[in-house]
Amino acid sequence: TFVVTDNCIQCKYTDCVSVCPVDCFHEGPNFLVIDPEECIDCALCEPECPADAISSEEELPEDQAHFLELNAELSKNWPVIAEQKDPLSEAAEWDGVGNKLQHLQR
Ligand code: SF4
Ligand code: F3S
Repeated sequence: TFVVTDNCIQCKYTDCVSVCPVDCFHEGPNFLVIDPEECIDCALCEPECPADAISSEEELPEDQAHFLELNAELSKNWPVIAEQKDPLSEAAEWDGVGNKLQHLQR
């Protein structure tokens, strides 16, 4: 599966959504996650993210390992997002800020 990691939080560019062939992105207030049971590992979304926030499970950096479980958990609660929308208004300011998990809104 592919995994959405920390740098998506507070940015939520949603470019990833427009290329996913199986609509497996789920949307929360300030973060997107991938449903690991639906993702077909096509890898199309990874290069689309302006914030470089998407990684394959295999290449997930050690300090992002907890996002694997978080994507699985939150995808069960959040609705599918199938169409791209505007990023969050302060996306550019938040892009690259470290450890944004503390700002995650559920
Ligand atoms: Fe969707 Fe493919 Fe990305 Fe999985 S790897 S989330 S199927 S675009
Ligand atoms: Fe997030 Fe990147 Fe998609 S910031 S919403 S994973 S394009």
